[in-house]
Amino acid sequence: MDKIFINGYGNIGRRLATALSADKEIEFIGIAKYTPDERTKDAVEKQFDIYVPNEKLNQFKAKGYDPRGSISEAIYKSDLVVDAAKEGGGFDNKRNLYEPMKKGAIFQGGEDRHGQRSVADMIHNSRVNYDEAAGKTYVIQGSCNVSGMGRIMQPLIEKYGKKIKRFDVTLVRRWADLEDSKQLDDSIEWDKNPHHQDDVKDFIPDSNLYVDAYKVPSRMMHLHQMVVRFNGRAPGKQQIVNTFHGEFGVAILSSARGTAVVRKKAIDLGFEHGDTNMVHIHEEVLKVQDDTVKISYSDDQTGMVIPENHLLIQSMIHKRSKAEAIKRTDALFQITKKRKLLEEEFGN
Ligand SMILES: NC(=O)c1ccc[n+]([C@@H]2O[C@H](COP(=O)([O-])OP(=O)(O)OC[C@H]3O[C@@H](n4cnc5c(N)ncnc54)[C@H](OP(=O)(O)O)[C@@H]3O)[C@@H](O)[C@H]2O)c1
Repeated sequence: MDKIFINGYGNIGRRLATALSADKEIEFIGIAKYTPDERTKDAVEKQFDIYVPNEKLNQFKAKGYDPRGSISEAIYKSDLVVDAAKEGGGFDNKRNLYEPMKKGAIFQGGEDRHGQRSVADMIHNSRVNYDEAAGKTYVIQGSCNVSGMGRIMQPLIEKYGKKIKRFDVTLVRRWADLEDSKQLDDSIEWDKNPHHQDDVKDFIPDSNLYVDAYKVPSRMMHLHQMVVRFNGRAPGKQQIVNTFHGEFGVAILSSARGTAVVRKKAIDLGFEHGDTNMVHIHEEVLKVQDDTVKISYSDDQTGMVIPENHLLIQSMIHKRSKAEAIKRTDALFQITKKRKLLEEEFGN
């Protein structure tokens, strides 16, 4: 059985730990913790083996924790590391730990694909390039926004191909996650050069895609608008909606009103970590005007990428077919069931 370690236990790391510790097909080694805070207590309560930097062993012990060992030891005994460090930290982990120990790793979307701090030569999006990750040593799992764009664009590209002239996406990003303690600023911020455009072009290189990104003071979810321009008249609304009916991890909602009701419903329905793990197309604001389709969809920022990581593991180390991998990921995350529940709750 393949041994997997999660390096980091923040918003992404703790969700990955919940999922991988429940996966009977891998041996879950445990998680890395760098600060002996409340989250360490959470990991203890969940009975995860905790590994800490060697030089901090005594600091953790002084706080009453009993780490299983050092992070280097955990990586040494693992076959694959899922890196969940704060944005940009994965590069140093690769240079200082994974490369010297010849260990493969999955990095998260906050890492660089290009330039001096590039960690991998591929960004994974399960809807587009799942098979290409098979046997790779280092792969970046695209961020939530990048994963969501691939999930909406690729089915349209497969169905309409050259009839599509261009995609313009306005990303409206949440300021912080629900469990973050940082304050929200009463401001709408723009991004001079959003990385999301180049990231998506990494796996859909021929797309005529333009991305603008704004950050708004909300914690619930992202809400993005994708404008798709066609050569000539655009297909009808129902045809566009039908494109997504069989898509894994895409719900079609028609009476949600906003991002908060979707998140709160996920919490009320008892979804793990309050995650829907998907994107939600809001049908009531999907518009077709002449040559243009406007699709608004909310994106579960923290939950989206967790099943994507799980699919990526299956490609990288198990080299499974995509259909088989989706079946297993669905069994673990119950995405089809969650989708059905949400579509019932937010139907017409
Ligand atoms: N949050 C989201 O919605 C989201 C969505 C998609 C992708 N991502 C990406 O996922 C990554 C992690 O984001 P996050 O939101 O989980 O961040 P986070 O909540 O700030 O957590 C970061 C974690 O990194 C740990 N850490 C500190 N030094 C480390 C090191 N050298 N190596 C590994 N871990 C280290 C911290 O541990 P201590 O707390 O013990 O100090 C903390 O648990 C980023 O690349 C981000 O862009 C985030």
